[in-house]
Amino acid sequence: MSLSERDLRVIWHPYTQMQTAQPPIGIVRGEGTCVFDEDGKSYIDAVSSWWVNIHGHSHPYIAQKVAEQLLKLEHVIFAGFTHPGAVELAERLLAILPDDQKKAFYSDNGSTAIEVAIKMCLQYWHNQGQQRTKILAFKNAYHGDTFGAMSVSGRSAFTAAFDSLLFEVEFIDLPNDDNIENLKSKISDIKSQLACFIFEPLVQGSAGMIMYEARHLEALMAHCKSEGVLLIDDEVFTGFGRTGKPFACNHVQTQPDIMCFSKGLTGGTMAFGLTTCTQYIYDAFLSDDKMKTLFHGHSYTANPVACAASLASLDLFLDPATQQSIDRIVARHRAFTEKIKGHQRIANYRQTGTILALEWQTGGNTSYFSGLRDKLYHFFLDKGIILRPLGNIVYILPPYCITDTELDYIYSAIEEALDTI
Ligand SMILES: Cc1ncc(COP(=O)(O)O)c(C=O)c1O
Repeated sequence: MSLSERDLRVIWHPYTQMQTAQPPIGIVRGEGTCVFDEDGKSYIDAVSSWWVNIHGHSHPYIAQKVAEQLLKLEHVIFAGFTHPGAVELAERLLAILPDDQKKAFYSDNGSTAIEVAIKMCLQYWHNQGQQRTKILAFKNAYHGDTFGAMSVSGRSAFTAAFDSLLFEVEFIDLPNDDNIENLKSKISDIKSQLACFIFEPLVQGSAGMIMYEARHLEALMAHCKSEGVLLIDDEVFTGFGRTGKPFACNHVQTQPDIMCFSKGLTGGTMAFGLTTCTQYIYDAFLSDDKMKTLFHGHSYTANPVACAASLASLDLFLDPATQQSIDRIVARHRAFTEKIKGHQRIANYRQTGTILALEWQTGGNTSYFSGLRDKLYHFFLDKGIILRPLGNIVYILPPYCITDTELDYIYSAIEEALDTI
């Protein structure tokens, strides 16, 4: 029996409509930008396996560091104990984040990094005797699948079964030239109730790679700062080079109070989450009163193997060759869109750094569940390319080690799809 058949008998996959589920492809190996199935067929991972992989699959340097760590210390309780990897990773990351970020809190994945950030904000006010429980977020946001993260995400098919159980959030439109002043005055009106503003900086990934301008984000962040509203910068997707700079917040001047990381943190090797914050957030929990403690801790908090993978990934990320690759991908994407921008099947195209999104002309049906999405998905799969359209939006965000030849192959498959699908 094949791996796919055995899988269908025992596995419940995420985001899969079970009644119509096709057997998944059994992947047994990865190398560079490619993963290989049971029969040896290769697939270019043009979406970095749900946006996590930044240096390519089974990178030998990361693998070696992880193996060394496994033989030294696989895990230790992170309450009352610490270990070199956790400290070194925090020191090295804080050194490349905005100056204000002073403390690191480890968890397990992107959603938990968000939960920690939300709790930090809510309890920051609680610890000071202030009732500020409302959270400001963007419409169509996506911050994860746990209940707090779902609450601050836009209401959608993903949340529909739970909407009545999610806490109240004030949702605002993405900022633009026309609405920025209105958004600012709305924030001023409710500032005394607001615990924080949480946002995906520059790109709303799951919403369909929706992009907005850094100057508008800057205007909103600066306004929140001046009105005393805490800022949670969710860099789970945008962190580690995706937007062309190390972090999306490097495109703005105002510094966030809290930042969240996961996905690229370990280079795509394993699950890990990190929430960083400023000294004044930390100080609001610093007290003899036990009730002011942040009561949050996962069993695998600061797992030494995840720290080793992250440190190895950081070594690779800070190698100037990686930034050159990022710049190369940015330029190649730009040249490709120049070439195809007039195509009649393209309703819209947009790019932020290494993220390129092309919106297919559909004549109305832009649903995430549209048949077009499935056609495109299988078209690319047949060509050995993993591209998972979000509805009618095809996006590429490859590992930074992708070669020009591989990029050319993806671009020409997209051109063929534009002409035939
Ligand atoms: C911006 C953003 N925040 C949070 C998350 C949740 O991360 P995870 O899937 O690791 O829980 C995601 C996942 O796609 C994301 O894109």
